[in-house]
Amino acid sequence: TVGLQIAIDGPASAGKSTVAKQVAKQLHYTYCDTGAMYRALTLAALRAKVNLTDESAVLAILKTLQIQFKPGSPQQRVFIGEQEVTQAIRQPEVTNNVSTVAALAGVRRQLVRQQQQIAQQGSIVMDGRDIGTAVLPQAQVKIFLVASVAERARRRYQENVHKGIDTPLATLQKEIEIRDQKDSTRKVSPLTQAKDAVRVDTTALSIDQVVAKIIAITNEKQ
Ligand code: C5P
Repeated sequence: TVGLQIAIDGPASAGKSTVAKQVAKQLHYTYCDTGAMYRALTLAALRAKVNLTDESAVLAILKTLQIQFKPGSPQQRVFIGEQEVTQAIRQPEVTNNVSTVAALAGVRRQLVRQQQQIAQQGSIVMDGRDIGTAVLPQAQVKIFLVASVAERARRRYQENVHKGIDTPLATLQKEIEIRDQKDSTRKVSPLTQAKDAVRVDTTALSIDQVVAKIIAITNEKQ
């Protein structure tokens, strides 16, 4: 089979990238983390100290930005030009500002176009917020991953402990709720489940169980 597209969307910290990466690995598909693209742009805009709601200023930065992915373990490495930003784009300052940048219509137009170009190269697993609805509306497999906000905060907390980021659990839960609210209510392609997406609640599932479920759904489509 050629060129199957798997779109994985859902709210913050539902496990999308962990699961998407493993699905891609098992199926030998390309993996594209679209959130990393919005994060890289946000990092660059913060470093340039531009007003994040100033669309033309942010777009000027995007124009000069060369976002690149390179394989890496446990996570894909992200570069802006030659500079590695894999860790920097996961810092709280970026996480708490990325939804503002991602709400800019012109930014979405550009990044969606780049994401569609990446997907043209063949079989792909792409995760984000609008993959099934806007980036790859024709994807054969669409998954909408959800989990309770308490569980998502707990997972983010665990992840942060490993990175040496020390934000209290209650603060993380609040931040996740705010980000979901912003992502779900923005004007341009807000976070919503595509009509033909399969909703998978991961609250009580292990990573392996979620991966197996998505692969089973994919196998039905081939
Ligand atoms: O997936 P991740 O949490 O890294 O995404 C960071 C942010 O980027 C999201 O909260 C959202 O604001 C934005 N995003 C988006 N559309 C995507 C992927 C991410 O708006 N396809």
